[in-house]
Amino acid sequence: MIELQGLTKRYGDKLAVDGLTCTVRPGIVTGFLGPNGAGKSTTMRMMLDLDRPTAGSVHLDGKHYRQLRDPLKVVGALLDAKAMHGGRSAYNHLLCLAQSNGIPRARVAEVLDTVGLTSVAKKRSKGFSLGMGQRLGIAGALLGDPQVLLFDEPVNGLDPEGIHWIRNLMKNLASQGRTVFVSSHLMSEMALTAEHLIVIGQGRLLADTSMADFIAQNSRSYVRLRSPERERLLDVLAGSGITAVPAGDGSLEVDGADGARLGELAARHQIVLHELSPQQASLEEAFMQLTAESVEYHAHSAPVPGPAPGPQPPGAGWGTDWQKKGS
Ligand SMILES: Nc1ncnc2c1ncn2[C@@H]1O[C@H](COP(=O)(O)OP(=O)(O)OP(=O)(O)O)[C@@H](O)[C@H]1O
Ligand SMILES: [Mg+2]
Repeated sequence: MIELQGLTKRYGDKLAVDGLTCTVRPGIVTGFLGPNGAGKSTTMRMMLDLDRPTAGSVHLDGKHYRQLRDPLKVVGALLDAKAMHGGRSAYNHLLCLAQSNGIPRARVAEVLDTVGLTSVAKKRSKGFSLGMGQRLGIAGALLGDPQVLLFDEPVNGLDPEGIHWIRNLMKNLASQGRTVFVSSHLMSEMALTAEHLIVIGQGRLLADTSMADFIAQNSRSYVRLRSPERERLLDVLAGSGITAVPAGDGSLEVDGADGARLGELAARHQIVLHELSPQQASLEEAFMQLTAESVEYHAHSAPVPGPAPGPQPPGAGWGTDWQKKGS
């Protein structure tokens, strides 16, 4: 397991990680979420002793990274797919890692095969696409057959087949009893992969909870009802103490009553329903809700460029100011 105790990192006057205390457990995939600049990569670097904590500590299976004799046999990580010598072939890159960690040479071919890079093993990695680089980074993480695995945005640049592959890989690694800690901004992907979540914002712990509880606690679930007898349905619901909110599209949104109860109620009063659909909130909604206050870098919305129906008002659209300055 990975244990963080009061982990803190300050860069000048920027507190990147602020007193994180939590435990990443084995046997499940734990997702690590937070807005841009929240401190995820910094936390992962401190786990690998690539950055020194200002305060606090990280222990991997009870040991500090520096105490590990052959670190790749304990913890494998993909933090930056570009962090390799571009002039080396994929095979030689992995061979270097293996030899410096007492890992047999035969393991190199094995992991290249696992990540699907056998056919380009002798090619220099600087010619690799982003997705190929990610696969090579994952091969490096798996090389020492470690019990702890860290992945910082591993699906970046992967094609749909690759995303599917890494999702299954992470789940398999966890089911073998390993500790798998993975950051990602792809919420739909995370919802399918992680069982547990650690969420941070501006360096502070915001949530350390199961995926199901996180979604339930940070978002709204309701049932959508649609009926040609809307007014009568509203009366029946009110009569049973159920509050329904009319939505703009003519449907009703009902909180606090499940689909079965609503269906039975409608049937008892012989009200025709055209729709009865439980609306499950998504991880993305829950994440946006929880982290709204700690998002540091907001984009400003601007009109989408495209064929304009008429003359554009002054200042409309992206780059107008720049064009003014440039002309
Ligand atoms: N080497 C560094 N020197 C100075 N500041 C840094 C350094 N590394 C990170 N920071 C700052 O620490 C904060 C956290 O950065 P970090 O890269 O850990 O965020 P993140 O959660 O990984 O973000 P993203 O989702 O964009 O990858 C940011 O404000 C960043 O500018
Ligand atoms: Mg990062």
